[in-house]
This record gives sequence, C-alpha cells and structure tokens, in this order.
Amino acid sequence: MSVRPLVAGNWKMNGTRSALKELGLMAEGYDAALRASVDLMICPPAPLVFLAAGAAIGTRIGIGAQDCHAEASGAFTGEVSAEMIADAGAGAVIVGHSERRQYFKETDAVVEAKARAAIRAGLAAIVCVGETREEREAGKTLGVVGRQVARSVPEGATPATVIVAYEPVWAIGTGLTPTTADIAEVHALIRKKLVGRHGKQAAGIRILYGGSVKPANAKELMAVPNVDGALVGGASLKAADFLAIAAAYR
Ligand code: PGA
Repeated sequence: MSVRPLVAGNWKMNGTRSALKELGLMAEGYDAALRASVDLMICPPAPLVFLAAGAAIGTRIGIGAQDCHAEASGAFTGEVSAEMIADAGAGAVIVGHSERRQYFKETDAVVEAKARAAIRAGLAAIVCVGETREEREAGKTLGVVGRQVARSVPEGATPATVIVAYEPVWAIGTGLTPTTADIAEVHALIRKKLVGRHGKQAAGIRILYGGSVKPANAKELMAVPNVDGALVGGASLKAADFLAIAAAYR
C-alpha cells in the first residue's frame, strides 16, 4: 500500500505570535511539486493554535496541537480538551510525546485515553512511542515499543484517525539517530502490531520517525521502509530547515 507521507513540526514550548511568519514562509515554499508528494503540518504551542489555523487557511498546511486532556470539559484548571483544539481549527494533536511521558508522568493508559479523546473530537491522534537510552542498551527496544503501541493506540485505529510517531528518547534534541537498519526494524514491528490488531487497513496508518531529523539526514531517514514521514522538533522552527526536510520527498 502506498502511504502519503507527512512531515509534521513540533514547536514544543517555543514561539510567540511573531513565529507565525515562519508558517507564512513555509506556505510560500510549499509549492505544487511538494504538495503533490507530501503533507505538511505544524504543531505550535496551544495559545497559537487558533491563530495558526487561521493563517494556514488556503495553504494546505495542517495545524495540530501538542497535547490534550482526555475529558471534553470540566474542572481541570490549566488543561485544554481535544474538542477545544478542534474548535480552534486544528486537525490533529500529538499525544504521549516522550517529554509528556517523562516530565508529566503520562502512562500508556493516559496516552490511550487522550488519543481516544482526540478521535472523539474529530482530530487525528499522533501517538508517540520510543525507548530510552537505557532500554536500547539493554536490548529492550522492540519489547518497549511494542508494548507502548499495544497500550497507547486505541481500538479501531484507522489511517484517518491515528498516526504513530517512533521517537527514540535518546535521539530527541541530541543530534543522534539510530541506524537506518535499527529504524527499519522498529517501524516493521510497529506496522506488524498495527495490522495484527487493527486489520489490513492499518497498512495505511502513517508511521513517522522523529528524533534529530535535519535537512542533512532527512533523505536517508525518509527512505527507510515503513517510514511514512517525520516528526521534527528543533528543525521545524525555521521555514528553511523544515522545507529542506520536506524536500526529501521532492
Ligand atoms: P528534535 O525533536 O527533532 O528536536 O530531535 C523531535 C521531537 O521531539 O518531536
């Protein structure tokens, strides 16, 4: 099955309104040839989602959020629901990013509930998984990632509702990346788990690679089997870098 790739940018806790000019530059660089071959998405911090969604109208660049609460509304001071994110004009939300799992103690069960909330609200859930350095060194990568996929991806996942992002924790923001053989092994495992549980349509679920994706390595990483795009952190803050990564699909 041929899967249309997605290059998504995670701005993390970076950017004020002035950063939206980068979104404008991305839109200018997202020319017909790129549009024919790859989807683009930017996930800005929550206060910018509404403005970014407005700015992205007519550009075909998708807008996503970085996290959501599992409940639709209620007494959860400081939280943002998937319904609010959808209402702000976004089409997706990242759930279970390793920084959420690590700093905010999110478990697979919490991530799964957030992913279900995203789908309930009509958003695509970008479910992140990935092993720590200690887990990789102990030879536990496939076990850890397989378990995270089994427990964090909700029942009935489809290509429209779920995107999986494999992000080795030790590769995020470090300049380090796994070998292409290691990435291929993990992505093949994720594909097998998805198809085993969700049926053959799960062959169309996009599996992104994330962790130190840069213009210099994008072509090599995006050529790995079962890598259907990238989740980009640092290099998504500047339009020139982000477009250079997307250009791997030119
Ligand atoms: P990085 O982050 O590209 O800066 O390594 C990736 C991510 O955390 O999504």
